[in-house]
Amino acid sequence: MSNRTFTMIKPDAMKNGHAGAILDRIIKEGYRVVALKMTKLSAEKAGEFYAVHKARPFYGELVEFMSSGPIIAAILEKENAVSAFRTLIGATDPAKADEGTIRKLFATSLGENAIHGSDSDENAAIEGAFFFSGLEEVK
Ligand code: TYD
Repeated sequence: MSNRTFTMIKPDAMKNGHAGAILDRIIKEGYRVVALKMTKLSAEKAGEFYAVHKARPFYGELVEFMSSGPIIAAILEKENAVSAFRTLIGATDPAKADEGTIRKLFATSLGENAIHGSDSDENAAIEGAFFFSGLEEVK
């Protein structure tokens, strides 16, 4: 089992001023930040990142939202990172997320849900490499 996951603080959380609180929570939960950057995705890059959802009815809105403003991308390290981080962020729909989870606290809606967390070790590696070169990662 890999000990790394990939996350993005999404444009709604950035715009609403929650980036600092979210990073603070992640660090206090014991994640080591291995790589970190603020960037803004083009619609093309957002579409590529979420290509797995291309056929879904929400794809167009998702791409538009994810390219609507800056994001923070990061690679995080902790034991059992992928699964532990999915628990920390909560359900995709914030209305269904457990109390105290990042999405419950900071998300706007199902479509604009504050934060991303990889859903498998394989995707964590693919998504981390989408944003960062090996040189940008702390050893
Ligand atoms: P998904 O990978 O299913 O969820 P998660 O981010 O929890 O792994 O979906 C990717 C994003 O697509 C999700 O964070 C928000 C958006 N989305 C919608 O807008 N509507 C939907 O019905 C679903 C399932 C997702």
